[in-house]
Amino acid sequence: MDHKCMRFLRPLLPIFIGICLGVAMRMMYAPFSEDSCETYLSRQDPQQLVHMRGTKSLESQDEESFEPRIRPPLEQAANQGGHVHADAGPKTKLVRPRYASNELGIREKLFVGVVTSKSTINTLGVALNKTLSNYVTKLTFFMDDKGPAVPPGMTIVNFADNHPHLIPVHMLKYVTEHFSDTFDYYMFLTDHTYVRAERVFDLVSHISVSQHVHMGLVKSTEAGKTYCYLDGGIVLSQSMVEQVKANMEWCLSKCHHNDQSLNFGKCLVHVTDMACTDQGGVKKFKPYRVNAFSFDNIDKMSVVPELNASHTVFPMPDDTNHYKLHRYFCEHELNTTRQEIERLKENILYMSQFAPGGRDSISWPIGVPEPYKPKNRFDVIRWDYFTETLIYFQDDFTNVKPLKGADKLDIQEVVKVSVERLNAKYNNIYLYSSLNNGYRRFDPQRGMEYILDITLRDTSNSNLEVQKRVQLIRPLGQVEIVPMPYVTETTHIHLILPVSEDDKEGVGTFLDAYAHTCLDTQENTELLVIFIYTHLPQPGQEDTFSVLKSMIAYYNKKYASSGTRIEWTPLQSNGTFVSEFHLMEAVTGRYTPDSLILFCTVGMELATDFFNRVRMNTIAEWQVFFPIGFWQYKPNLIYDKKPYPTNIELMNKVGHYDMLSYEHSSFYVSDYINARQLMMSEDIWNGDLFEMFIKYSKLHVFRAVEPALKHRFKQFNCEATSPPKLFQRCLDRRSQGLATRSQLAKLIFEHQEKMGAGAQPALNSV
Ligand SMILES: *[C@@H]1O[C@H](CO)[C@@H](O)[C@H](O)[C@H]1NC(C)=O
Ligand SMILES: *[C@@H]1O[C@H](CO)[C@@H](O)[C@H](O)[C@H]1NC(C)=O
Ligand SMILES: *[C@@H]1O[C@H](CO)[C@@H](O)[C@H](O)[C@H]1NC(C)=O
Ligand SMILES: *[C@@H]1O[C@H](CO)[C@@H](O)[C@H](O)[C@H]1NC(C)=O
Repeated sequence: MDHKCMRFLRPLLPIFIGICLGVAMRMMYAPFSEDSCETYLSRQDPQQLVHMRGTKSLESQDEESFEPRIRPPLEQAANQGGHVHADAGPKTKLVRPRYASNELGIREKLFVGVVTSKSTINTLGVALNKTLSNYVTKLTFFMDDKGPAVPPGMTIVNFADNHPHLIPVHMLKYVTEHFSDTFDYYMFLTDHTYVRAERVFDLVSHISVSQHVHMGLVKSTEAGKTYCYLDGGIVLSQSMVEQVKANMEWCLSKCHHNDQSLNFGKCLVHVTDMACTDQGGVKKFKPYRVNAFSFDNIDKMSVVPELNASHTVFPMPDDTNHYKLHRYFCEHELNTTRQEIERLKENILYMSQFAPGGRDSISWPIGVPEPYKPKNRFDVIRWDYFTETLIYFQDDFTNVKPLKGADKLDIQEVVKVSVERLNAKYNNIYLYSSLNNGYRRFDPQRGMEYILDITLRDTSNSNLEVQKRVQLIRPLGQVEIVPMPYVTETTHIHLILPVSEDDKEGVGTFLDAYAHTCLDTQENTELLVIFIYTHLPQPGQEDTFSVLKSMIAYYNKKYASSGTRIEWTPLQSNGTFVSEFHLMEAVTGRYTPDSLILFCTVGMELATDFFNRVRMNTIAEWQVFFPIGFWQYKPNLIYDKKPYPTNIELMNKVGHYDMLSYEHSSFYVSDYINARQLMMSEDIWNGDLFEMFIKYSKLHVFRAVEPALKHRFKQFNCEATSPPKLFQRCLDRRSQGLATRSQLAKLIFEHQEKMGAGAQPALNSV
């Protein structure tokens, strides 16, 4: 029992470790990423802090009070309650909302509504979409009339009444009708506004949601009522929108000014009886109004403290200025962030003297987790040695490989950065000459680390060659946990087994294993065998698959009571290569779109664990699964004497995870059909299923070594008519799948010994 449980858990162990590691890393980063209590503490004198511990809390800087309030019961609930009370019969069933978030009243943070027009949607509108949409929860554009061509990927609502001045009121109506309870805050503006989205989001995140908020830049006061610039952006809390909803009629009939800001303000002020101010809670909202904005004057403007402190800048004359300003503020944020990082580093250094281990406990670079400390010699992370053109011992199977692709770019980049940094430090005196030695390793806690020995020429000293050693690290970014849709372990699996004339021998074993693993135990599966004929038998000729067909008939008779039949279907290959698409084409019609398909091969071992893994890892409209099985080496090469063991042990002398194997795959028929429709015709000929899912679908393609999938040794007959890429892959697999290199070396050695010195090595017998 215990043992079985472990067997089930062991494959999941890496996932648990991954999640724990992810959570742990998140926690390591958390103190550095926010200007939080820690930062505050670190600026204090530690001795003083010890005293403070006795008192109840650090001084409270926030004046906001968080009085508990009792919510009046919802109207609907009250009605229901009355009903239940009236007749004491069976209680009416409580209808729960579909999402817990609705029931708990959890809302999204920020909705942004933009007033735009036919003439500006393609310039200023698009600019706003580009600079704003990544930061806010929802961004919607409102215009009075549909333009000739609307830009793609933007939510646009149009009111076809040709009264531009009424759009703000229509917009309010639309929002109250559709999203009045979905967001905590609503921001309304026109497309002439530039929004510093991060700052606005930060602002509303720090105002208590219990406050009534109506913020903007005050424009005018009329009859004792204050209105704000719609151009500058107006922020409302959900409570205000709720009130507007109840009184929309008044706004629709009374707000007919020619000024958009006035219409908007009048409606709000009347309905909520709350003037527009720049204040929300203890926070201030700061739109910055510029007369005749032009980015060319930025040097003059940047000294104005209002610009630095602003949340929005308006009015923007055109999209070019919008983009330029965006670039300026991005740079500004970057500078501020860099300063912040420097400050944090100093804090960490300062605090370290009071921590266990003192200054020495700090590892370089500050803020990145310490290097992994191996527990024993098997845990040591290996350094790969590289030069400018070659990389040595990158994995267990290669001695040396030319540097190319991503590896090459990676190394070129670190060399470039090293030289730049050295020049920045030593007054630009160095010219790069060559890379002597390079080492790199991947530390799962830190990221990629490099040590480089570089030869440089010192231009200040008659180009004398100097050597420098530099150390670099490419730290890991934030670790994310990817949420996955829920799947069950009971899904019906449709196995497909293609059988060519070369495969005939192994089919008996496969069918026997299938009967044993699936039919005897009522495993929820179904098998379809595809017989691939080079020539379909003419009447009177012998059918090459007749024996197999009678075997299938035998099993069907034996298991007639189980309700599942093994099916078969013929396919003609025309003597050429049969691609996976031909196979799918022949059988897709048999399946409903929601069927889960698993491609099998003659020679694979069938295991319940594997089927369950397929069920867990294949998710409709989300993920397809391409397991990498453990393939056995050629028995007469790896075992000394007969009889060879019948089971395949997971040992490196017995076989290997064949990274080039793509023939096992599982996916839903609907996902296949969707991807297949988008495929180019030349890819149908050249590609395989794996490539199709990578190229033509948005699904996750999950590929991982799979210990529960073992495969007996297979002699590859590589088909010269197959596409060049697949043919080459087949040749590689044929040579790599024989035995390990040391086993082969030993065989060659023994062979040479036998033949006597001087004889040519001959491996033909293999
Ligand atoms: C608008 O923003 C969305 C979300 O970022 C993006 O998908 C879309 O392509 C953008 N549209 C234009 C025209 O920039
Ligand atoms: C801009 O504001 C930040 C704080 O928000 C401040 O640290 C910085 O010094 C200001 N920069 C200028 C140029 O005023
Ligand atoms: C950011 O810093 C760089 C260099 O320190 C400076 O040249 C640039 O003007 C700064 N940009 C802003 C927007 O503050
Ligand atoms: C074989 O040829 C027939 C007719 O020429 C064609 O319909 C069929 O698709 C071909 N099959 C394969 C597997 O190439």
